[in-house]
Amino acid sequence: MMKVDVKIWAVSALLLACSPSQDTGTEEGKDLGLSTYYKDYFPIGVAVSPSALQGVQAQLIKDNFVSMTPENVMKSGPIHPQEEVYNWAPADKVAAFAKENQMKLRGHALLWHNQAPDWLFVDSLGNDVSKEILYQRLERHITDVVTRYKDVIYAWDVVNEAISDESGQFYRDSKWYQICGEEFIAKAFEYARAADPNVQLFYNDYEVINPVKREKIYQMVKGLQDAGVPIDGVGIQGHWSVYEPSESTLRATIDRFTGMGLQVQITELDVSIYPKEHAPRDKNEDDDDTFTDELKQKQIDQYDMIFRVFRENKEKLSSVTFWNVSDQYSWLDFFPVNGRKDYPLLFDEDNQPKEAYWKVVGF
Ligand code: G3I
Repeated sequence: MMKVDVKIWAVSALLLACSPSQDTGTEEGKDLGLSTYYKDYFPIGVAVSPSALQGVQAQLIKDNFVSMTPENVMKSGPIHPQEEVYNWAPADKVAAFAKENQMKLRGHALLWHNQAPDWLFVDSLGNDVSKEILYQRLERHITDVVTRYKDVIYAWDVVNEAISDESGQFYRDSKWYQICGEEFIAKAFEYARAADPNVQLFYNDYEVINPVKREKIYQMVKGLQDAGVPIDGVGIQGHWSVYEPSESTLRATIDRFTGMGLQVQITELDVSIYPKEHAPRDKNEDDDDTFTDELKQKQIDQYDMIFRVFRENKEKLSSVTFWNVSDQYSWLDFFPVNGRKDYPLLFDEDNQPKEAYWKVVGF
């Protein structure tokens, strides 16, 4: 009996210690919503699918975020599945939600090797098109998509992930690169600028915390700038984990891109509970997906560090965007290990704030 009482007391004390009023110093423990706590720092956004824009998640989005990025529906494959067919409806839904709720909208992504439609690269016989034809198609695609959302999108990820992960290779060996060489990158920025003179144009990539890849990205972006290509910013995706990056690596990553006269944004933030892997693989018997107390604490500490560094760099960061809304669904549930649940966000599977949330807003 005594043991049970002690346990109840301990649990109550723990709950009290984690309550909003204790951790955040907010009035009467009222949760102001993530973005409000950060209003003097940077806008905080979230990647969404149209299905997240109804019910509980829609409210969560409105309460906590001031910006959105469409997770998939504006990518070239989903939005332009055949040469003469545009699938505007899902993207329109995201754009309308942003307008109705006075939220900022980041466009994602005009050119990517992944989720690009097959028709783009081949002729009617299935042979690769010439680079001239590919540029014509790219120009039309970018012009149509940028023009349609000109009234609501303030920034576009123009080129996504063009740099190779291999240390001995500079550019990713994509279909774009095979047909056009590196020139396709500049072309995409030029087409986007012609379609909208006012929108901000970003290069966006992952694994920027890796010093070798970071340096390649820096060199490429610097080369574009020196050549007069209209680029306004660099997107550091931020698909990180409880094991990386370290504080010094994170600081070095941000610092590398400041001082270039470009904007720097964190565009796709999540903190996986697993060591980072970048290639898909099957689930095996060692894949335990229990979100243990130890992992919860590691994630709290990692988010605490990441947002402390972000706050200290508020003059250098013009936005921070989470990739997905809550642990109810994350792309990490099926990548890199299909069917291995991950818990990478600040809201839990029931769309409630996690302890990591209170830590992030409790400064
Ligand atoms: O829509 C189809 C559906 O019709 C089909 O039944 C189902 C069967 O697999 O697939 C559905 O498409 C999936 C799509 O997400 C929408 O859910 C694709 O298979 C799946 O591959 C796709 O994954 C997306 C991934 O990009 C593609 O590589 C993730 O949702 C999306 O979060 C992820 O986002 C990328 C960023 O754009 C760029 N940076 C990395 C980031 C994470 O990979």
